[in-house]
Amino acid sequence: MKNIVILISGRGSNMQSIVNANIPNANIVAVLSNNPDAAGLAWATERGIATAALNHKDFASREAFDQAMMLLIDAYEPDLVVLAGFMRILTPAFCQHYAERCINIHPSLLPSFTGLHTHQRAIDEGCRVAGCTIHFVTEVLDNGAIIAQGVVPILDNDTADDVAARVLAVEHQLLPQAVADFVSGSLKIVGKRVIKRHQADSSAQML
Ligand code: GAR
Repeated sequence: MKNIVILISGRGSNMQSIVNANIPNANIVAVLSNNPDAAGLAWATERGIATAALNHKDFASREAFDQAMMLLIDAYEPDLVVLAGFMRILTPAFCQHYAERCINIHPSLLPSFTGLHTHQRAIDEGCRVAGCTIHFVTEVLDNGAIIAQGVVPILDNDTADDVAARVLAVEHQLLPQAVADFVSGSLKIVGKRVIKRHQADSSAQML
């Protein structure tokens, strides 16, 4: 059994997709947040999952918040930390501590559109496709080895909300699959690439 801690900042629909997937050998030991009002915390609590929030506004520095969050996370002895809509830039100390055992979902086709407002920026650039990326977390923002990407079209009259909804449906498929692949030991990091040991298990969307 692998212990999994999920970090969220808001709605938590990606966290829900992981919980609802009932991944074999994956024990969701806690859902944590930097936002005490994150809706996803209540959802997890209702399902008997341990939850806690550390409000980043209560800390004097990014370093102090990350140190406190690391202590909280480590109390659950995680094998994997999943950033599922965790809207914080992480310190190098945090990233190094969880090196190769922390993954993030980002709503763009990395390396394009790191950071925020990814769908509007893709529309503004005239992109015909958008998507999401699941990657290992490193000190460089949205830059670690890529585990999976999903692609959707951008249609002529799409708003950022239209694209976000289309991408989110793909996120909900890819993230539980990536967690399952990590838990089963299928992911091997080779430089900036992730090699999947059981390619035959990959879904068609995991390009
Ligand atoms: C998701 O679209 C995720 O890709 C994005 O936040 C959303 C969270 O939704 N993450 C980032 O932007 C990280 N930089 P959710 O709370 O419903 O899972």
